[in-house]
Amino acid sequence: MKIYPLSVKAVEPEEFRMFLNRALERDFITKHMFKRTLIDDPNLTDDLILMAYEGNTLIGALIGVYRSKAPPEYVEKQKNVAWIKALGIHPKYRSDKVFEKLLEEFIDQAKSDGKDTIRFSDFASWHFFPGLDIRYEYYLQKFLKQGFTKSADVVDYEVDLLFLYLPRTAEKREEKLREEGVVFRELNAYEKERIAAWAAEKFSPCWGIEASMALEEPEGGVWVAEKDGKILGFSVYGATEPNWFGPIGVDSAVRGRGIGTVLLYKSLESLRVRGYRYIVIPWTG
Ligand SMILES: CC(C)(COP(=O)(O)OP(=O)(O)OC[C@H]1O[C@@H](n2cnc3c(N)ncnc32)[C@H](O)[C@@H]1OP(=O)(O)O)[C@@H](O)C(=O)NCCC(=O)NCCS
Repeated sequence: MKIYPLSVKAVEPEEFRMFLNRALERDFITKHMFKRTLIDDPNLTDDLILMAYEGNTLIGALIGVYRSKAPPEYVEKQKNVAWIKALGIHPKYRSDKVFEKLLEEFIDQAKSDGKDTIRFSDFASWHFFPGLDIRYEYYLQKFLKQGFTKSADVVDYEVDLLFLYLPRTAEKREEKLREEGVVFRELNAYEKERIAAWAAEKFSPCWGIEASMALEEPEGGVWVAEKDGKILGFSVYGATEPNWFGPIGVDSAVRGRGIGTVLLYKSLESLRVRGYRYIVIPWTG
């Protein structure tokens, strides 16, 4: 077995994607996701993507990344952290030491680049999935054996919009808020910078990035609640993936008045009318 960084031995993107789908049997990596996480990530460098080969056959891959560019607010703060976005081994080669060798090579590289922490998977906003599915017995055991520990529990909700309906209580909340002068509307593409700045200030730079991503996507969008021209809350759909919902946030000064509920239904309805039946509410704590 030999390991090469992608910068040394190139691979066809589609071959790589299909390999990942074979190696990560519980994940579903669409063309859209592959492009977002690998091609569109401004932080990515081919030097940190390691591929294991047996002869000419790709048998393992480790996609590593450092927070080197975006969002700029995190570059200094996270300068000691290295991420593994994904680590996949072909099922036929799992009894060999491919996992260990890829990981060892990446850790050595990260150490020599001054990193003291390695995180797995949660590289917002260019992540595949925010964590390891606990049903991955093979990967879970391997990571635990190598000294990795769990840092958080998160859940991706899968929602069937066949059952979507607007409850009367939510409708009433919207009516009341409208009477109080709150306006609910979808943002236009030219308002990208405005929402990105607001979400970054109130929540996090990554939420700002995801709001702007949504406004660039053909099927994505951002709902806002505004009063007197001031943004009170936002909800995003179709940002990271076409059928994913979120983030959602309401200014802490005006929470508990139903704004979040209305914004949630607005985005779900937007996904529904675009024809998405199964949607995902990812990374919920
Ligand atoms: C979650 C959030 C958007 C809700 O906005 P909001 O305008 O306060 O929501 P609403 O007033 O419509 O309340 C919705 C319901 O959720 C409940 N709720 C709100 N925040 C909650 C929380 N953190 N935990 C549990 N329940 C919560 C409310 O009690 C309310 O319940 P009810 O309908 O039975 O009365 C807002 O709290 C927020 O911005 N939180 C921080 C960002 C965040 O965590 N976003 C979600 C992850 S992407």
